Amino acid sequence: MFGIGKEKGLVGLDIGSDSIKAIEFKTKQKDGQDVYEVMKIGLEYLPHDSIVEGTIIDSEAVAETIKLIFDGNKISNKNVAISVSGSSVIIKKLSLPAMETEELAESIIWEARHNIPYPYEETNVDYAIMKPSSQAADASVDILLVAAKKDKVSNYSNVVQQAKKNLHVIEVDVFALQNTMEINYPEVSKEKTVAIINLGANATNVIISEKETPQLFRDLAIGGALIAENIRKDLGTSSEDAEKILKGMPVADIPEEQSQSAINTNVENLFEEIEKTFSFYGAGEEEEKKIDKVFLSGGLANLKGLAKSFEDRFKIETEIFNPFRNIFYNDKKLDSTYFQELSPLFGVASGLAIRKMEE
Ligand SMILES: Nc1ncnc2c1ncn2[C@@H]1O[C@H](COP(=O)(O)OP(=O)(O)OP(=O)(O)O)[C@@H](O)[C@H]1O
Ligand SMILES: [Mg+2]
Repeated sequence: MFGIGKEKGLVGLDIGSDSIKAIEFKTKQKDGQDVYEVMKIGLEYLPHDSIVEGTIIDSEAVAETIKLIFDGNKISNKNVAISVSGSSVIIKKLSLPAMETEELAESIIWEARHNIPYPYEETNVDYAIMKPSSQAADASVDILLVAAKKDKVSNYSNVVQQAKKNLHVIEVDVFALQNTMEINYPEVSKEKTVAIINLGANATNVIISEKETPQLFRDLAIGGALIAENIRKDLGTSSEDAEKILKGMPVADIPEEQSQSAINTNVENLFEEIEKTFSFYGAGEEEEKKIDKVFLSGGLANLKGLAKSFEDRFKIETEIFNPFRNIFYNDKKLDSTYFQELSPLFGVASGLAIRKMEE
């Protein structure tokens, strides 16, 4: 499921609850390194409630939207990589004594049976051996164990099949984001402790990595759609007006200060959730752990002034994630909005498009 193959490229397909994003790269080698160029890109919004709490409810609407993106943007490659996240996806870091590969595989299964809060038979389990960190004792090996509930995986893979695409890779949102960071911000990711916070419509993914080694992952059930819903209730507006307020557009009969105060309350709640997540990082360790840099990605990262408020509140350098920072694109041939205001929405899709077809 998470293997790395060669050559043939995949279309990165991020099935979000607000919109579906697709992207395809052309890969070239330069000085022994992969360089990427965007060949195809597209985004379409989903009908409301097609995906609820991470479950695809209206698979026909989702499949049709996928087809629309491919047809509308002339994406002829049918081979795709998708990702899953949320409470039915468990990621655990394990440290095991160094041992032979076969023995290791057995130990990992044992660990999976004992570490996952779901019956082992109901989950798809995979693992990756992590790059040893310089401080690690030679006698141990760090493993990232990933377990996704089978019904979650089939819920997403069925819709890909329904859209007549070939599914090659199922990744986890946070690892797709990590891939995107390593390509676009190598000088930061290699040296620093970085948090990427992907603020979507109904979910927020958080990953903290130290020098490209993932340390903490969380999926929080918060996002723009939930904030818009709170604004609707607070100000007694329609859902459409609440969404406009969130996006900083004026709405008749609602004074600017009132809109701003409703947004501020919700941003404060969001920050509190993130603060709790940050407090798990380094908890129980002797040395204090510090995050050097935060990247905000996802649609809600576009909330006016959010990066600045984040920086002020957490006293950590914060910037909006640009998944095209080190990637070539021709914005005369492709719609330039994808590389401007919509770019923070492509963090996951880009990380998926980097994956190659398993051979
Ligand atoms: N300019 C903006 N200001 C504030 N919020 C915005 C802005 N633009 C988009 N959003 C919000 O971003 C959210 C969509 O983000 P994104 O595309 O990352 O979500 P998604 O991937 O579809 O959903 P999820 O991953 O949560 O299922 C929506 O809730 C939308 O209201
Ligand atoms: Mg998303």
